[in-house]
Amino acid sequence: MFEHVTPYPGDPILSLFQDFQKDAQPRKVNLSIGLYYDENGTIPVLSSVRSAAARVSAAAAPHTYLPMEGTPAFRAAVQRLVFGDDCAAVREQRVATIQTLGGSGALRLGAEFIKRYFPDSAIWVSDPTWDNHRVLFVGAGLDVHTYPYYDRETNGIRFDDLLATLDTLPARSVVLLQPCCHNPTGIDMTREQWQAVIARLRQRQLIPFVDMAYQGFGDGLVEDAWPIRALCDAGLAFLVSNSFSKNFSLYGERCGGLSLVCAGEREAASVLSQVQAGVRRMYSSPPLHGTQLISTVLNDADLTAQWDTEVAGMRSRIKRMRTALRERLEAAVPDMGFDYLTTQRGMFSYTGILPHEVDVLRERYSVYLLRSGRLCVAGLNDANLDLVADAVGTVLKARSSASVSLS
Ligand code: LMR
Repeated sequence: MFEHVTPYPGDPILSLFQDFQKDAQPRKVNLSIGLYYDENGTIPVLSSVRSAAARVSAAAAPHTYLPMEGTPAFRAAVQRLVFGDDCAAVREQRVATIQTLGGSGALRLGAEFIKRYFPDSAIWVSDPTWDNHRVLFVGAGLDVHTYPYYDRETNGIRFDDLLATLDTLPARSVVLLQPCCHNPTGIDMTREQWQAVIARLRQRQLIPFVDMAYQGFGDGLVEDAWPIRALCDAGLAFLVSNSFSKNFSLYGERCGGLSLVCAGEREAASVLSQVQAGVRRMYSSPPLHGTQLISTVLNDADLTAQWDTEVAGMRSRIKRMRTALRERLEAAVPDMGFDYLTTQRGMFSYTGILPHEVDVLRERYSVYLLRSGRLCVAGLNDANLDLVADAVGTVLKARSSASVSLS
């Protein structure tokens, strides 16, 4: 009966993580999947989350079904964090927010909504983008195209080309944008660039879909969400997916949110009801435990302040690792530039390390990067930094001496 089913070749990020876990080498380093490791090389359980877990456990509430859209406390917390304390759209009840299975669940739910209500719209993602964006949107039946983004020559953004592409899109095309800590490049648009993009989105009646998976890992929780507030101020209708996997270190709890900013309260109520229907069609209602942890933290001023400090700690450790790796690589390979390590932001650096060099790093040194050359800086610590810098330095020196002998 199932003979025609061919094996799934695996996911470029998740399969690599499995290979890493199986690697018997004790000094292996995981710089592939987006996981934040602390100074001791472990995935932290945040103190704010620990306190929340103690409260949740003491309350011993029944494990009942949640509503399709999640709990009111969680949804209100998502709106405050994503849109700010004083957002007109939220105040006017124009934002339909629903709890989702992580950021990926939010993207998928949003994609299902787009397919149903904008069946002729295609989605445009940055070139490059997170590997799974395409898979997820194609899975929902959308046509996926790219707009120019990363410029390898300048380590910047092909901004004129990006704008020129937006100018060619049919009205109601969906444009996926990342507000902070762009995955995989670590290159974000400036506020001026955002304003120019927002003007184009409005002029051409495009639908922004903002994917915020790393809020707090760039400049701060409020600062990183600035583009979302600017889109609200510009009066656009748009979708936002947000994830708590990274900033709460709650990867396995699958907690996130999808918010749709609408023109009025009635419209938002209809939109919410249709997204609820989408949840019922797929998985009925979201899980409870992670929501309780996040709601407890975000609805308590002291725990929120403690969490904010913990996010700041993760952010500054990532920045310190960026500087430390840059210094070591500059010393090891003086004829190559490594400023990109400190100009890119968030968990990821787009290193330009070539696929065959990535293979050497993995096979010879058990240092795991994605084959695109994306390196998760949040996997570095003082204990593995030298090993990584030596390995990367050796591989890059081999390239630079090969290019000298060729020329
Ligand atoms: C990543 O890009 O590594 C993360 O977002 C994790 C994932 O699911 O791919």
